[in-house]
Amino acid sequence: MRVIRAWSRADRARVPPMASNEQGPGNILTAVDDGILHVEIKRPEKKNALTGAMYQALADAIDLAAQSAQIRVILLHGQPDVFTSGNDLKDFLQDPALDDEHVAYRFVRAISRATKPIVAAVNGACVGVGATLLLHCDLVYAGQGATFALPFVNLGLCPEAGSSLLLPLVAGRARAAELLLLGEPFSAARAEACGMISAVLPDGDVLPHAHAQARKLAAKPPAALRASKALMRGGIASQVEEAIRTESHEFQRRLQSPEAKEAFAAFLAKRAPDFSRFA
Ligand code: COA
Repeated sequence: MRVIRAWSRADRARVPPMASNEQGPGNILTAVDDGILHVEIKRPEKKNALTGAMYQALADAIDLAAQSAQIRVILLHGQPDVFTSGNDLKDFLQDPALDDEHVAYRFVRAISRATKPIVAAVNGACVGVGATLLLHCDLVYAGQGATFALPFVNLGLCPEAGSSLLLPLVAGRARAAELLLLGEPFSAARAEACGMISAVLPDGDVLPHAHAQARKLAAKPPAALRASKALMRGGIASQVEEAIRTESHEFQRRLQSPEAKEAFAAFLAKRAPDFSRFA
């Protein structure tokens, strides 16, 4: 089994033009290898927080996979100590005027409509949209040391990426309410018990195992695989679209709220937020 830790020069040379990082700041690395589109989130100095350019590059990668017959499966991962800390909170503070055309929503729509299977390998922190995007992946492997959090309410926000529908479906309403309303960090074991991930593995085994599973999928009859993925989502696809739309409107309203501004400012100032003055 070939272990991929970092992209080699040969890997990069094989990146198709549309999957190159020319449009982005180089924080999303892509490479195609034996039918697998490897997508690596790499902004370790900010715990892989996602900027607009990174959402754009992620959405482009998913679109590329849909268009390319060579690509059978997408393998998504972050760094050995962090998957992603979610949306860049500085971006939220500086540009809270998200609309439906924002690249973050383009990414969410792209991953929710993806036609090719997505395998995710999660190590370290997996926060916000980092965790909700997993609900749109097909096989998800996490390390024993991975830590998940859905801190939307704590940030004055609300669930996104269809999670207000999908999490109660996979976890049950009572468990989903704990995760989404309390917004406390939870372990990989809890994520597995809640149906968010396929399996928990020793940290060092996560990426090699996810890669091996992606290779298995890449060798399968591609049309049967696509049809099966579509059938598994077909029944609720329109509800997911509707949930994403409804959530995004509430999320946009909440982003402008004094509660959210206090939460983001507190995070960046490394202090506890104070919501006591809000009704
Ligand atoms: N947006 C912007 N910057 C972020 C970020 C985010 N989502 N997450 C981390 N960073 C930055 C920190 O501000 C810090 O920057 P600095 O070195 O310039 O001060 C750097 O990344 C390291 O983060 P730090 O908090 O020191 O790392 P940690 O290992 O102690 O904690 C997390 C990691 C992910 C648990 C913590 O950073 C966190 O909770 N981040 C916010 C997650 C979040 O609320 N996401 C939004 C969901 S909608």
